[in-house]
Amino acid sequence: VRGITNSSSGKMAYSLARACAQAGADVTLVSGPVALSAPAGVTRVSVKSALQMRDAVSAALPGCDVFIGVAAVADYRPDTAAEHKIKKSGDALQITLTPNPDILAEVAARRDAPFCVGFAAESRNLDEYAEGKRRAKKLPLVVGNLVQDGLGGDDNQVVLYDAAGRHPLPRAPKADVARAIVAHLADLLPPRP
Ligand code: CTP
Repeated sequence: VRGITNSSSGKMAYSLARACAQAGADVTLVSGPVALSAPAGVTRVSVKSALQMRDAVSAALPGCDVFIGVAAVADYRPDTAAEHKIKKSGDALQITLTPNPDILAEVAARRDAPFCVGFAAESRNLDEYAEGKRRAKKLPLVVGNLVQDGLGGDDNQVVLYDAAGRHPLPRAPKADVARAIVAHLADLLPPRP
C-alpha cells in the first residue's frame, strides 16, 4: 500500500540487457518492479527490495564474466515494515531508515569479482562524483549521467569513466547508448584464458 523507493523506469537497464544479449552474452537480469517486458533471450529474476536484489545477484554471480550495476537501489529501507496499512493521524510521522547494502561495492570487493561496471546518477558535479565512485568502489568502468538528462526518458547522455579518463558519448536513444557502453566495456575486458 505504501513504500519508500527510488524512481526508475528501468529503461537504461533493459536496453543494456538487450545490448549484451545481442552482443552474444548469456544475460541474467535481476530487476526491481518496472513496467517493461524482459528482452528476448534474457533470463529475468524479479525482486522487490534491495535485500532480495543482493541475494539474487549473489545467486547469479558464479560463472559471470561481467556484472553491470544499473539499478537505482534505494540507499535506505525502513527499519520496520508495518504488517497493516499505517492509518493517518494529524501528527507528524517519523520513520527510521536503515542503510541498505551497496550491492555493487560488495560484488566488486569479492576475491573472485567479475569485471564490474557501475552507474553514477548525479544531479551536479558529475565528473567529480562519478570518478569518485569509480575509485571508491574499485570499478574499472563507471557510466555517469546527470539525472535531469536521463531519468524516465527514452534518451540519455552519459560520460564513461575508466582508468584512461573520461569519454563523453553523444545524447542518443537509450538503445544506442547501451550498445556504445557494451562496445566500450568489451574493449576493456581482459582476454579470456
Ligand atoms: N548501488 C548498489 N547498491 C546500492 C546503491 C547503489 O549496487 N545500495 C549501485 C548502483 O546500481 C550504481 C552505483 O552503485 O551502479 C552508484 O549508485 P548511485 O545511486 O549513483 O550512488 P551511491 O553509490 O548510492 O551514492 P550516493 O547515493 O551517495 O550518490
